[in-house]
Amino acid sequence: MLLVTGGAGFIGSNFVLQWCAHTDEPVLNLDALTYAGNLANLQSLAGSPQHMFVQGDIRDSALLNRLFAEHKPRAVVHFAAESHVDRSILGPEAFVETNVVGTFRLLEAARTYWSGLDEAAKAAFRFLHVSTDEVYGTLGPNDPAFSETTPYAPNSPYSASKAGSDHLVRAYQHTYGLPTLTTNCSNNYGPYHFPEKLIPLMIVNALAGKPLPVYGDGQQIRDWLYVEDHCAAIRRVLEAGQPGETYNVGGWNEKANIDIVQTVCALLDELAAAPDRGVRDARSGAPLGRYAELITHVTDRPGHDRRYAIDARKLERELGWRPAETFETGIRKTVQWYLANQEWVAAVQDGSYRDWVQTQYGARA
Ligand code: NAD
Ligand code: DAU
Repeated sequence: MLLVTGGAGFIGSNFVLQWCAHTDEPVLNLDALTYAGNLANLQSLAGSPQHMFVQGDIRDSALLNRLFAEHKPRAVVHFAAESHVDRSILGPEAFVETNVVGTFRLLEAARTYWSGLDEAAKAAFRFLHVSTDEVYGTLGPNDPAFSETTPYAPNSPYSASKAGSDHLVRAYQHTYGLPTLTTNCSNNYGPYHFPEKLIPLMIVNALAGKPLPVYGDGQQIRDWLYVEDHCAAIRRVLEAGQPGETYNVGGWNEKANIDIVQTVCALLDELAAAPDRGVRDARSGAPLGRYAELITHVTDRPGHDRRYAIDARKLERELGWRPAETFETGIRKTVQWYLANQEWVAAVQDGSYRDWVQTQYGARA
């Protein structure tokens, strides 16, 4: 079986759903259910013997040791992290705790377990660490995209903590021989994305007639990848990646933030026409003509990285992975998903998603 950490978050839950749709191999999902963890994302797996959920913290060494000993996973796929840059600016400590200390404890537990395996199981074991392109810092307009050999230059507490975790993973492979794999991916978007991040925030604010806060001039560039393509890349790296290697994952979709927001607004105009829905500007009460009327430029993020771009040619060349979605197909699916899943949005916004564990598991042993 696989041990997945952070499998109730945005990418982790998409990964678990995709894994269960493509294989019969069981998944043990360890997640602390912070504000970002939402078991409702995995509702379709409720009762499935393929998915076992454990609420717990990756910093809890005793729990980790017990889970490794009892379940004997053949691989770890490590998503669990504090993931939001703005939160890391307001409160960096949780980022060091989970992303650095938590990854360290997970590596230690994995190493202890792995050391006791027979030679064949040792060679087959994998520790796949899911990381980010933000560890490489920021690019100028004409710089080449980040490759696997770009020096690390993290600029936010979030990216610094992820860089720290990447270095620990590297060291455990180099020093102890733990068979690790690291993926560094660009910005994801898609279903179950928590509406604190750009794309889901813009969708849910627009539908509520609230301002769409664009930081600074909105000309910062991100390289967007549909989340299911990221999950497929992780599955491929787990299957065929070379231990000790790192793989950049990206969609070749560089877009300025303001263009992303304009695209979301245009899709909402098409799919959820504001006047028909009776949506009003939450500030003025006036009927909305176009959702783009809600765009508001606000103070920039401190230390805001200007441009990210990923060179994903190694993954394509060595493992044959390529994204299936273009930005146009992926963003349309995403807007449609949020329109079709407004109960999920409402439960996230009113906090009731946090009752899900009690609702779902309260009556069980
Ligand atoms: P997320 O914030 O949506 O989910 C994180 C999950 O980790 C949550 O379910 C949360 O409950 C869990 N978690 C947090 N602290 C924990 C702890 N101490 N112990 C156990 N579980 C804990 O994050 P995401 O966007 O799904 O990102 C997943 C991973 O992918 C992260 O490692 C992130 O750095 C990386 N990544 C994200 C993106 C992106 O665009 N979102 C891009 C590249 C890489
Ligand atoms: O690049 C990969 C990273 O992408 C991941 O490692 C992170 O976990 C993930 O959160 C994401 O980081 P970003 O900071 O790029 O994502 P976010 O959605 O927060 O912001 C995207 C861009 O939009 C960024 O330039 C800031 C801007 N922005 C964001 C918000 C929330 C706005 O202009 N307004 C906003 O309200």
